[in-house]
Amino acid sequence: MPDTLTITDNRTGKTYDLPITDDTIRAMDLRQIKVSPEDFGMMSFDPGYVNTASTRSAITYIDGKKGILRYRGYPIEQLAQQSDFIEVAYLLLHGELPTATQLEDWRETIRNHTLVHENIKKQMEAFRYDAHPMGMWISTVAALSTFYPEAKNVRDADNRMVQIRRLIAKAPTIAAFTYRHLQGYPYNSPDNDLSYTANFLSMMFRMTEPKYEPHPALVKALDVLFILHADHEQNCSASAMRAIGSSEADCYSALAGAAAALYGPLHGGANEAVLRMLTEIGDVKNVPAHIERVKQGEVRLMGFGHRVYKNYDPRAKIIKQTADEVFEVTGRNPMLDIALELERIALEDDYFVERKLYPNVDFYSGLIYEAMGLSVRMFPVMFAIPRTVGWLAQWNEHMADEAQRIARPRQIYTGAGERDYIPVENRG
Ligand code: CMC
Repeated sequence: MPDTLTITDNRTGKTYDLPITDDTIRAMDLRQIKVSPEDFGMMSFDPGYVNTASTRSAITYIDGKKGILRYRGYPIEQLAQQSDFIEVAYLLLHGELPTATQLEDWRETIRNHTLVHENIKKQMEAFRYDAHPMGMWISTVAALSTFYPEAKNVRDADNRMVQIRRLIAKAPTIAAFTYRHLQGYPYNSPDNDLSYTANFLSMMFRMTEPKYEPHPALVKALDVLFILHADHEQNCSASAMRAIGSSEADCYSALAGAAAALYGPLHGGANEAVLRMLTEIGDVKNVPAHIERVKQGEVRLMGFGHRVYKNYDPRAKIIKQTADEVFEVTGRNPMLDIALELERIALEDDYFVERKLYPNVDFYSGLIYEAMGLSVRMFPVMFAIPRTVGWLAQWNEHMADEAQRIARPRQIYTGAGERDYIPVENRG
């Protein structure tokens, strides 16, 4: 059987054979379908890109029906258990696990870039005392482009890697500064003796002690959370990163745009929204009433549902285990009981079962961050740090892909036809 799709246009009776590659037809092949020679030709209509592949990618694989997530072929469960975030970052960016030497070089390179220019610090100090940390993080990442103007040279693969290393190294430094700003504490410099995640905790929580020693269980838990959040293929923010990058903007500007997309409550802002929802519910006895409000369409159950997963999000499963390990150190988050009851009822209720709504990555992560002592406003930033790696891996792949062009969707125009301008004094 030929790998083609035959389409008959019933308006004209004409038949077209479109080639099929990877279970996909090319949208441009529809353009030949016309009613008359002057006709523009047919397009596909897909708000929210629900069924449109925008790229070929070799980075992350998701099977939403089965609840499978793999980075470069490696199951997320194995990476969370056996690897660490910096190694996973190497894997996502380079496509293969590093050798021992490559890994040590990679760790060293990231360590070398953790400091930010003093003027970046000053710029951050200028934010209002209660500025949302995500707003600060997004703006500061964008500001980095003015410190590294050579980043504009986006067609140079080596130059891209320099900027990538810088961004991965500085993402936690800027994040920790936003947290210290919120607390009204002086910003802590990086401690390069520590691992990536331990240093991040040190930059956030070190007070007057000369050396901060984070609890190893918390370092491990944060590392696991960072691994789970590192990439998730063509989601809203990764697509924003690619779309902005497609205009050949530098990666700092593109990454600020991606982070802005992450900030929304339907995407990475959901972890903050979950904690606000749990606080509002307040008690296990109020859970059924909240579920009823969700079913009436008054509110969404935050941390539930996913465009791709129609099964339990594999990341949520790992996070649930990680939460237990963290609570052994920090004490149990009292809101866990509300979350567990919400999950229990939702997983049995027809509304959620029929729509295949399961807990996603954001449902339990906020409980862990809160137990670690972070305020809810820091949660989207906690997502942005590890996702920086994913955005950069997606951007780097995009920039090296010769099939890519500037992102520029079409529209179906629904506005007025041509009409003559009426001077203001003649308008009724
Ligand atoms: N609570 C209640 N109903 C929901 C929810 C929810 N969380 N999510 C989807 N639905 C319903 C929705 O009302 C619709 O019902 P109906 O068919 O009767 O109109 C049906 O399920 C399909 O929903 P959709 O909005 O068409 O699905 P989508 O793929 O466009 O949206 C989503 C995906 C993640 C935006 C959505 O599930 C949602 O808003 N979830 C809550 C926010 C959240 O937790 N976001 C984090 C996502 S995972 C991490 C990340 O991406 O950053």
